[in-house]
Amino acid sequence: MEKTRSYTARTENELKFDFTDFDTLHEDEWDEKSIGRLDEPMWDKRYDYEARLITEAILYKHNIKTVLELGSGPGILSQKIQKDNPNLTYHLVDKEYAKKYFDDNNFEGKMFVKDLSTGFDTSGLLDNYDLIITNDFLEHVLNPSGIARATYDITHKDSKWLVSNPNWRMGHQYVYRGLFDFDNLVYFMHVHGFSIMDCFASSLKIAPLEQIKKAAPKLASESQLPDSMLDSWNHYMLFKRREIEKYGTRN
Ligand SMILES: C[S@@+](CC[C@H](N)C(=O)[O-])C[C@H]1O[C@@H](n2cnc3c(N)ncnc32)[C@H](O)[C@@H]1O
Repeated sequence: MEKTRSYTARTENELKFDFTDFDTLHEDEWDEKSIGRLDEPMWDKRYDYEARLITEAILYKHNIKTVLELGSGPGILSQKIQKDNPNLTYHLVDKEYAKKYFDDNNFEGKMFVKDLSTGFDTSGLLDNYDLIITNDFLEHVLNPSGIARATYDITHKDSKWLVSNPNWRMGHQYVYRGLFDFDNLVYFMHVHGFSIMDCFASSLKIAPLEQIKKAAPKLASESQLPDSMLDSWNHYMLFKRREIEKYGTRN
């Protein structure tokens, strides 16, 4: 460890970046140079798995008719979901090049270009949605609280929110390291008006579970994380909306 460093690091990635390097501030995501990942079979399988999970565990169970996906990328997951659920109203928000791919491929649904790096201007969207999806998105933005606050205002009492975020053990890089530890994210969502209902592992594993348990055991901030999700590439967490008082509970 460098003598001058004054913080701990869980992964090498935490030593590499300043916030100006974060993708969220750059317009070139999903341009010709970075779009290639969509052709990788691993990603296609991942979206297949996610579409099945969302369809079976959420859409069918909770009578979902309207969906908003934030930080959707070019929309591959949305097409897989709509293939099996053609009557959904499906809206997506991402950056310019993601929309270009979406439009060039005549994808179903409607994509909006908005800058979500520090907040979320909801103009042009529906008054509310039955389901919000943020699939590996919240950990990228500089103001997740701003996103969560605005999102609350476009949900109704029965809305659900599926938050997926990478297991920190895979070396992902975060603006707010620790916020996405399982218990902390449950707390973050709670104070923004959403209670956890369920959680799911991904189809991809980081490494054998025994190896993970030794090399990167559970943290105190992961007490609620099911053991079976310790080696899961992603953590999928389903939240339901709860009523919060406009002026909180300060009185
Ligand atoms: C890790 S990718 C996830 C993409 C997709 N949900 C998936 O699972 O493949 C994060 C996404 O958030 C989008 N994003 C990041 N910062 C953004 C911003 N400031 N405004 C709009 N979208 C943003 C990126 O363009 C990208 O599509």
